Amino acid sequence: MAVRSWLFVPGDSEKKLDKIGGTAADVVILDLEDSVATDNKGRARDMVGSWLAAHRAKVTDGKRMGRWVRINALDSRDWREDLVAVLPGGPDGIMLPKSAGPESVTQLNAELWELEQRAGLPSGSVKIMPLVSETAAAAISIPSYATASLPRLAGLTWGAEDLSAAIGASRKRGPDGQWTDTFRFARVQTLLTAHARGVMAIDTLHADFSDEAGLRRAAENSRGDGFAGMLAIHPAQVPVINAAFTPSESELTEARAIVEAFAAQPDAGTLQIDGRMIDRPHLTLAQRILGNSI
Ligand code: COA
Ligand code: MG
Repeated sequence: MAVRSWLFVPGDSEKKLDKIGGTAADVVILDLEDSVATDNKGRARDMVGSWLAAHRAKVTDGKRMGRWVRINALDSRDWREDLVAVLPGGPDGIMLPKSAGPESVTQLNAELWELEQRAGLPSGSVKIMPLVSETAAAAISIPSYATASLPRLAGLTWGAEDLSAAIGASRKRGPDGQWTDTFRFARVQTLLTAHARGVMAIDTLHADFSDEAGLRRAAENSRGDGFAGMLAIHPAQVPVINAAFTPSESELTEARAIVEAFAAQPDAGTLQIDGRMIDRPHLTLAQRILGNSI
């Protein structure tokens, strides 16, 4: 399953739920949390449950769209009811907002076993991806996800909005458009911890959905830095993200040349292609580009 673009869709909007089929998002995240007003929580979870049941599989270009749900946070009254409503629809995974650390993932994990069984889903099939940076305490303990026992963990992602509110940061980016240090710190820890663990690193969203050039730059930076995909909030962002996370023909050609050069000289630790030194890390990167990466 491709994991380049992860499109949030507010769970209480029939119109937006109807639009999912027309997007090429690799993964849709049906949201029950921040994009849904308190009074609409019940309605949203029913609508999301129905949508999942009615859309078991969507296949575009031979690829199946991932179906995830963002439930409400574990300190809310809603999250258990959210799970009860959506598990029968067999979601691929649950995005956990305001995760305090591995213990939050463990708590969600424990709740899922019985619901999976009741819904007739294979045990352990519903994955978890926490938002790891949404409070100050969470943001300073991101590396703790690297080694904890978390069998359902599929990836890590991070968000800037809740963290900025939590710490009273009136800006998230500097005049140059780059993240300020606080958010760069959270982002880098998310990236490295996900790789240390061997799960997907998913970059946060570009909030200004009408800024296509800025999004393209952000998505290219994400992929260049080692993220596997990126969150999106508007259908117009999906093609831009998909393109940025798809290796170009010249990258593929170069990667194939590196793999072939090492295959031709299996005992070589280092060799040269067109006058450039190539060693084993280049081979690892080339193999990643050719598609066996996280
Ligand atoms: N998923 C599906 N459809 C969406 C969508 C989304 N995330 N965002 C917008 N659309 C639809 C709109 O309904 C609209 O449909 P229409 O042409 O039939 O009217 C079309 O795409 C164009 O949308 P646009 O008019 O540009 O934006 P909007 O004002 O309707 O919505 C937002 C703007 C930000 C409110 C909307 O993009 C949104 O709800 N995003 C997701 C927010 C979210 O989930 N946040 C939680 C994560 S932080
Ligand atoms: Mg939030």
